[in-house]
Amino acid sequence: MPKAPPVDRADSPTPAPGKSSKLPYLVALLLAGVVTVLVFALMGNIAKHKREAEQVVFKIVDVDETTTDPAEWGKNFPRQYDGYKRTVDTERTRWGGSESYQHVDEDPDWRTLFAGYAFSFDYREDRGHAYMLNDQRETERVHKVKQPGACLHCHASDIPAYRKAGIENGAPGKLTDPFNSADAREQLQKGFEVVCAMPYLEATELVEHPVSCMDCHDPETMHLRVTRPGFLNGIRVLAESSDPVPHLPSIERWRKGDRKEPYEPNTMATRQEMRSFACGQCHVEYYFKGEGKLLTYPWHNGLKMEQLEKYYDDEGFKDWTHKTAGSPMLKAQHPEFEMWSQGIHARAGVSCSDCHMPYKREGAIKVSDHHIRSPLLNTARACQVCHNVTESEIKARAETIQDRTRALMVRGQKATLDLIDGIVKAKDAGATDDQLAPLRDFHRKAEWRLDYIAAENSMGFHADQEAARILGEAIDYARQGQVKAVQLLGALAPKAQVSEASHVSQAGG
Ligand code: HEC
Ligand code: HEC
Ligand code: HEC
Ligand code: HEC
Ligand code: HEC
Repeated sequence: MPKAPPVDRADSPTPAPGKSSKLPYLVALLLAGVVTVLVFALMGNIAKHKREAEQVVFKIVDVDETTTDPAEWGKNFPRQYDGYKRTVDTERTRWGGSESYQHVDEDPDWRTLFAGYAFSFDYREDRGHAYMLNDQRETERVHKVKQPGACLHCHASDIPAYRKAGIENGAPGKLTDPFNSADAREQLQKGFEVVCAMPYLEATELVEHPVSCMDCHDPETMHLRVTRPGFLNGIRVLAESSDPVPHLPSIERWRKGDRKEPYEPNTMATRQEMRSFACGQCHVEYYFKGEGKLLTYPWHNGLKMEQLEKYYDDEGFKDWTHKTAGSPMLKAQHPEFEMWSQGIHARAGVSCSDCHMPYKREGAIKVSDHHIRSPLLNTARACQVCHNVTESEIKARAETIQDRTRALMVRGQKATLDLIDGIVKAKDAGATDDQLAPLRDFHRKAEWRLDYIAAENSMGFHADQEAARILGEAIDYARQGQVKAVQLLGALAPKAQVSEASHVSQAGG
């Protein structure tokens, strides 16, 4: 309920000086009464308009915890569904957009950097949500290589499939139990474990649709929610870490409490946090843990690049062994949530949805744009609501950040290629694995950093200084490793070869 407005000073503790001052009191009382009535009338009017805006349509069909088909939800919410359907559009921007060109053809350096790994033969630019399931089914990365069911987690509306598998494997309750019930959560976790371990080509048969309404919305209330088990587990271990997360106030609050209940975003997070968590369900770094290939978000030490790296180092994990250099490598995957977390916008409370799903007016109604895409195709609504500069100016500011990031990235690529070259030469000259180990460690560190920024899809925009810092470290580690390679080669081989290996390629040239 709204409070009475502060104009009501009739009960002021100031003592009344005398009889003659009663009139002003009466007038004040009357005035306060009138103002209160007016304010309440206004509030009522606003609330009515708000209700009108919320009641976008009458409920035409019933949707529940099994309705993965967005067309069904679309009958109740046609405006959001229209936007959602438009994620089929393809339009390229300077450094992003939604045309699925082949990265390793545009920039063949990456074939060498990824040598021996599936990404060296098929690695495309991301595109709209409508394509996520097909693109995964079609990539050569699932046909030339045997992949686990864990891949499915972020490419389909798969919550009922998980829960069904959970029930079939002994979890209690039924498929329509509310998502936040204990039974539903047990079904989800059990089924998630079962499906992760299945072969991908079998698991993908369990689903029909790409990410859909139920993945982000409660079918009863339409409230935002997060459903992905990988995220629910990941955000819990993040809360349990001591990494400061000033942009996630509900976690900071939970840490100060008694911690009896584990951190649960669906009941504890603010609405503004949920507007980023909904995306953090999938736009994150991940790996498959152990024999069961359990999808895991490596947030145990925190959300920063080196905290993720430390987790992998402590686990003794590698994604693959580099084919020519023999180094134990890490592959970075779209760490948008992690990088956004380090940027000025997160710090200022700006969520993923503020830029990628800005409000738009349709008649009298304000809806969130469900055509999720590059905000640079939509700067008027995505940026100019907060930044009072022209459209070309705000776009230029973003592209300046991106061009600078790209320039550093090119140097990082060249430096890492030189290091690979140095390791191969030392190996050919007869260096032992023991002698090569420190060089390979530099390779792992340098390429993880380089790839972290390359795989992050904003070309530095989400956290510009952080991107530059990480690329600076990549270049430094690569060149340190190269110096070590030259020294090793000097100890092993005649002079002629040494001068060849110490050749430093010209970045950007
Ligand atoms: C302040 C605005 C802003 C916020 C907040 C923001 N982004 Fe972005 N995002 C951008 C811009 C600008 C780009 C660059 C687009 C381009 O190059 O075309 C981008 C790029 C992306 C891309 C690649 C898009 C493409 O066209 O290839 C993805 C995916 C993405 N962001 C996801 C996220 C996620 C997930 C979050 C929250 C964790 C987030 N963004 C937060 C502005 C934002
Ligand atoms: C943690 C969530 C998550 C998991 C697990 C996941 N993906 Fe993705 N995938 C994404 C996101 C987000 C994008 C879009 C951003 C990008 O392309 O970098 C994407 C993009 C893709 C693309 C299109 C762009 C490209 O790289 O060619 C393909 C194909 C793909 N994934 C295949 C797979 C395969 C195969 C697996 C299992 C090995 C997998 N995905 C596991 C989240 C995930
Ligand atoms: C269920 C996992 C999932 C969720 C949840 C999710 N995404 Fe995605 N997103 C993907 C995948 C996978 C792709 C790549 C699809 C492809 O290339 O086929 C993608 C692509 C994108 C793109 C590139 C689109 C383009 O036109 O290039 C943007 C931008 C994006 N997502 C932003 C977001 C934002 C913002 C949110 C939260 C509101 C979000 N995503 C939630 C998995 C997800
Ligand atoms: C990747 C997550 C995601 C998916 C998938 C998604 N939404 Fe949303 N939706 C959001 C976010 C974020 C908001 C903003 C909510 C807020 O600010 O409280 C929203 C808001 C809404 C609202 C409230 C009114 C508005 O426009 O702000 C409706 C209704 C809605 N979505 C319907 C749908 C329907 C129907 C689908 C499926 C066709 C769908 N959504 C799919 C994330 C999603
Ligand atoms: C909800 C409000 C909001 C939206 C939407 C938003 N911004 Fe911002 N932006 C901010 C705030 C707040 C800051 C921090 C500046 C400050 O505190 O003075 C900021 C900072 C920036 C900066 C300076 C970055 C730096 O490292 O110093 C750039 C560039 C920028 N925004 C571009 C964009 C672009 C491009 C978009 C659209 C894709 C966008 N912003 C959308 C609120 C917003």
